[in-house]
Amino acid sequence: MHNSSRRGFMGKAFGAVAGVGAVGSLIAMKKTWDPLPSVKAAGFTTLDMTIYPEGELVTEKWRGKPIFVLKKTAAMVAKQTESQKARDVVVGDSHFMLAIGLCTHLGCIPAYIPAEEGFLCACHGGKFNWAGEVTKVPPPRAFDIPPFKIEGTTLVLGEAGPEYKAMKDSGITL
Ligand code: FES
Repeated sequence: MHNSSRRGFMGKAFGAVAGVGAVGSLIAMKKTWDPLPSVKAAGFTTLDMTIYPEGELVTEKWRGKPIFVLKKTAAMVAKQTESQKARDVVVGDSHFMLAIGLCTHLGCIPAYIPAEEGFLCACHGGKFNWAGEVTKVPPPRAFDIPPFKIEGTTLVLGEAGPEYKAMKDSGITL
């Protein structure tokens, strides 16, 4: 009886130690799995919006995806429809088209054709205007707009600021 209760005590003690060890191992493993702070920060890209030339498409990169940045000329802004203006990212007095540069049909990268005031996707002939709206199918929707936050004259890609949230709430972007 004495021996069996001693065995029981030893068994419980061993179990408790093993349990603590297992939890400790899990915590250590989780720390290994968690991305480093620098990797988390790598999800953000900061763009200086003062450097873009008017009327020229610049392709940036964010999370491995091409990001189209097109600073619109005053003439482009003046002739936009209301739905096109609603897609503009406005930094200071400047209007930009900001979009993930992948065709919403099957993901090809469309080419900017200034003479046609838009983009042509060579894969299946889809077209987009300079606001990113579809002007010729098969793309099922406009270019997607990446999450962005305006901070003065810089844009932080990967962070959803109020302007982006308003676009998302109104169904302009995914
Ligand atoms: Fe662009 Fe099909 S992938 S039209």
